[in-house]
Amino acid sequence: MAPNASLVSTVQVRELVRRYDDRAVLDGLDLDIAPGEFVALLGKSGSGKSTLLRALAGLDYDVEGSGELAVPENVSVVFQDSRLLPWARVLDNVVLGLSGADDRGLRSLDEVGLAGREQAWPNELSGGEQQRVALARSLVREPELLLADEPFGALDALTRLKMHVLLRKLCAAHQPAVLLVTHDVDEAIVLADRVIVLDTGRIVAEETISLPAPRSAADPGFAAVRSRLLDALGVSV
Ligand SMILES: Nc1ncnc2c1ncn2[C@@H]1O[C@H](COP(=O)(O)OP(=O)(O)O)[C@@H](O)[C@H]1O
Ligand SMILES: [Mg+2]
Repeated sequence: MAPNASLVSTVQVRELVRRYDDRAVLDGLDLDIAPGEFVALLGKSGSGKSTLLRALAGLDYDVEGSGELAVPENVSVVFQDSRLLPWARVLDNVVLGLSGADDRGLRSLDEVGLAGREQAWPNELSGGEQQRVALARSLVREPELLLADEPFGALDALTRLKMHVLLRKLCAAHQPAVLLVTHDVDEAIVLADRVIVLDTGRIVAEETISLPAPRSAADPGFAAVRSRLLDALGVSV
């Protein structure tokens, strides 16, 4: 192991700036994510969460800043809609762009609970199943960094809970670093090692979550963290 290898970050962002016209949406933002760390990002609508995610995904060429933006080469992104190709069967969607990866693709589909559905068309699947395919497509690439922008935002509450269990299982098995954007404070606390809040272009609050698993909203510690995060979001309860 290289000296100080445990201190090396998977994501290292310094003084990131992103302007639209003259308005800085990201304004000197700093962020580190450790290898295998699960970070959830909260922020009001329009606070720049998706802008940050796009910058990390390498999808935005107009970021600027005096600092650095270091991300691993192997990054996968999951969005709110699955973005599956409707004319490709499920397995072909999973292994798109990878050659000779059908066996791996089948294993990934098994991991997300979709064994036997590899020849289905995307529109034959429910919204939750389509998101499972999107997760399989991401994880078959064994990313060092998984970026997810409100991936469960369009799902019903019950499906969303099942996806939480699945995502935790997948992250335990594959151990990517994760940045999950969500507007759901409870989802953030249930899933993440650390929750951060974006406002006025920077990270303005941070909570390390050390609650025992399985995490329950009934836990007084959970309620205390939730209340501090809601405060940081400017919501008084
Ligand atoms: N392509 C764009 N052109 C101009 N403004 C944009 C563009 N994309 C995002 N914005 C603005 O940047 C701000 C942050 O957007 P976004 O990152 O999508 O917020 P969030 O994901 O937190 O809701 C918003 O005010 C939005 O209107
Ligand atoms: Mg967004």
